[in-house]
Amino acid sequence: MIEAAALRPPGRALDLACGAGRNARYLAERGWKVTGVDFSIAAFPAVLADLERDAIPFRDESFDLVCIINFLHRPLFADARRVLRGGGLIAVKVKTIGSYSLRPDELRGYFSGRPLLVDRDGELIALK
Ligand SMILES: C[S@@+](CC[C@H](N)C(=O)[O-])C[C@H]1O[C@@H](n2cnc3c(N)ncnc32)[C@H](O)[C@@H]1O
Repeated sequence: MIEAAALRPPGRALDLACGAGRNARYLAERGWKVTGVDFSIAAFPAVLADLERDAIPFRDESFDLVCIINFLHRPLFADARRVLRGGGLIAVKVKTIGSYSLRPDELRGYFSGRPLLVDRDGELIALK
């Protein structure tokens, strides 16, 4: 997410399954206008939504950066692309081993034709 955010001037960011908001706060401190979404009442001010049941509650092409960090619900990748503006970025971090993990080639499939970053631990960071 840090690498993705550094690639664009601050704009509108969406942090899906934001939790306590560590990622959202990082972005907000750097000038991004951040919206968090989570299904629990998180410490970070969040729009409440069940991301495993409902579509992302925002219009098409309304964010410059979408973050999905340590949360896995496969249908969310396509919906994240829907809410992304042209030229925007999606930062995804998902484990590649253990529970709630994706195979590396599986994540590539959701972002086919797009460059991917892989972090030092072999976990995946996807860029649209
Ligand atoms: C492992 S935490 C990651 C939090 C944050 N992204 C981070 O990196 O610190 C997973 C988050 O997903 C949220 N979550 C789990 N299931 C969800 C659902 N169905 N809809 C929305 N949020 C969900 C949890 O409330 C929790 O905040």
